[in-house]
Amino acid sequence: MDVKALVQQMTLEEKAGLCSGLDFWHTKPVERLNIPATMVSDGPHGLRKQDDKADHLGVNESIKAVCFPAACATAASFDRDLIKTMGEAIGDSCQHEGLSVVLGPAVNIKRSPLCGRNFEYFSEDPYLAGQMAAAYINGVQSRNVGTSIKHFAANSQEHRRMSSSADVDERTLREIYFPAFETAVRESKPWTVMCSYNRINGVFASENRWLLTDVLRGEWGFDGYVMSDWGAAADRVKGLEAGLDLEMPSSHGLNDRLIVKAVQEGKLPEAVLDQACERILNIVYRFEENARPDTPWDKEAQHALSARIEEECIVLLKNEGNVLPLDRKASVAFIGEFAEKPRYQGGGSSHINSFRTTSALEAAQGLNVTYAQGFSASSDEVTDEQLNEAVAAARNAQAAVVFAGLPDRYESEGYDRSHMKMPAGQNRLIEAVAAANPNTVVVLHNGAPVEMPWISKVRGVVEAYLGGQAVGEAVVRVLFGDVNPSGHLAETFPLRLEDNPSYLFYGGEGNRTEYREGVFVGYRYYDKKDMPVLFPFGHGLSYTTFELSDLTLSAGQISDTDTLTARVTVKNTGSRPGKAAVQLYVRDVKSTQIRPVRELKGFEKKLLAPGESSEVSFTLDKRSFACWNDQLHCWWAESGEYMIDIGFSSRDIVLSAPVQVQSTDTLPRHYDMNTIFMDIADDPHALSLVQAFFDRGRSVLGGDAEEHGEAASEAITDEMNSAMMNYMPLRGLLSFGEGKITQEDFDALLKKMNQE
Ligand code: BGC
Repeated sequence: MDVKALVQQMTLEEKAGLCSGLDFWHTKPVERLNIPATMVSDGPHGLRKQDDKADHLGVNESIKAVCFPAACATAASFDRDLIKTMGEAIGDSCQHEGLSVVLGPAVNIKRSPLCGRNFEYFSEDPYLAGQMAAAYINGVQSRNVGTSIKHFAANSQEHRRMSSSADVDERTLREIYFPAFETAVRESKPWTVMCSYNRINGVFASENRWLLTDVLRGEWGFDGYVMSDWGAAADRVKGLEAGLDLEMPSSHGLNDRLIVKAVQEGKLPEAVLDQACERILNIVYRFEENARPDTPWDKEAQHALSARIEEECIVLLKNEGNVLPLDRKASVAFIGEFAEKPRYQGGGSSHINSFRTTSALEAAQGLNVTYAQGFSASSDEVTDEQLNEAVAAARNAQAAVVFAGLPDRYESEGYDRSHMKMPAGQNRLIEAVAAANPNTVVVLHNGAPVEMPWISKVRGVVEAYLGGQAVGEAVVRVLFGDVNPSGHLAETFPLRLEDNPSYLFYGGEGNRTEYREGVFVGYRYYDKKDMPVLFPFGHGLSYTTFELSDLTLSAGQISDTDTLTARVTVKNTGSRPGKAAVQLYVRDVKSTQIRPVRELKGFEKKLLAPGESSEVSFTLDKRSFACWNDQLHCWWAESGEYMIDIGFSSRDIVLSAPVQVQSTDTLPRHYDMNTIFMDIADDPHALSLVQAFFDRGRSVLGGDAEEHGEAASEAITDEMNSAMMNYMPLRGLLSFGEGKITQEDFDALLKKMNQE
């Protein structure tokens, strides 16, 4: 389709109309020109296609569909291929249902465990989130269905979600809140991007030209269309100019008329409108010209796939004395309502009308399993009767498994949690069961970290997250050892909420939330502070053991324009097949920038038979070493030594190797009267001009006892002497020099130093 020519045939009103939705889920058709309407739908972990009664909060029913594990779970798989497979399945269902774009993936960074939508997001780590997002997009789009990566950007709280401003410095945006979007845009080219509700540094994302045009298109090369989150468009004309192409859902003609008026009055160039229409129509036709409504949607097969995916996501957090896996012949008490009615998805726009669910209790049929309800998700308390029944069941079994976690009302789109605790009744239940049976295991269904006051009293903890409609099958297969768990945490579990770096500022004041912890999000903070945590980022146990050896780097020294290959051997040293998730972190040994201890820059998952070893390799480039430099206004890999740390979590580094990186960037320098000596020391030209003065200063301060007297010489240590001179500004030439420098000489000196 020659979209450019088509737009030229459209009237001003038709063009303005195309830039907002027909209704909740469709773009507008233009019948006169045979331009079809296309449908979009949530997303991200399955379809929420609505027929007649539409809403964006998951209130009204949608068609029966398949609910895959939510992103909190899928990120823990550390497995790109798996997420791609899930994307392919979702893409197939979209083709079957005639959906041009699925509204996901959602990649916002988990700044605080409190964000109500954390369950829909991947990680506290931007690299991991970016890799997962790219894999999902590649999967969906391989079926010729678009994605809408969301919510762009810095949308890490639900509190005041449609008005709040995320006030974040540029380095933090570039290093933490942007990369998941950037990686996905660069590597997998999403057809659309959804801008977020919030403001960024005071400007609505939907009106933010720097965000939607300069960075997204100019720097990253995005070529699809930008749509608003549902109701995120404020000043529509401003938005269009900034790069917001499609307003969703619809403003019932109001904003269309404002666009027409702005063009007629010469306030909005018509070319801007034409461009938005071209972008929208490119995607409309990309789908329409390859629509395949005959694509089968085998829901049963996808149910099985959902179970298989969840099996790879489950994280074994604790397994004292190898309480797991359970013996298939053992008598086991399943306790807690979630064993019967699992919580497997979160509330809001991602809520799926699952065609079927499998509970752990159903999946355990044929095994020697009894059940006690223990608690009801509708109450925070437990009754004595529930407790007594649970304790009796636990006493009569060889092992007890408590299915616990967060009820729906605790975490959802639209609002944040105010604490990180589980319902008090569930905590009581776990304590009582653990007291009754030494082999107690807790299975958690939750979308974000919880405090575990009972952790030392139970022998096992299995994090199932919100594991999709087949979660019960996956959990039972892990509990009884049919599947060896291989998930790893994509987020830190702090001991308590107060430990979280955003704790003091999260939610903000009024409509302003300052991201004062900067780049120190998640493990970047806990590791820098060397703080104890409940479970570190990347943690995950297995029923087998793995060993890492032979870390080699392709070079000991590289330029920042080179790539570096790191190779390591991983071996299964246990007696069961299992999957190892090998993680690579980069550590800047000595930096002039304030940086985290280490940052994830690579991961690979490998299936290994007992005794089998395999080589894993990682390719690193400038970005793996760089941080954002405000002076250069770009990525900067400072010259110096870096360590390549390989391990199984950010706190379990097994092997390290050094590499010297040579930067090809030069930081701009400008000397003035307040420049201190330390900042001149590595510039031979400038230094030569002032060396004599500083040498003289050094010798005066560092003179011997005869000159200063015994007491003074003890007080003036070498360290102090060198600090005094290092921190001495050039204006010291005037104050402490020998009185011979005139202002003219001084100005001339500065000119020479600056080579002007
Ligand atoms: C959510 C989006 C969602 C949209 C449509 C909004 O409330 O923030 O994630 O895609 O509704 O349902």
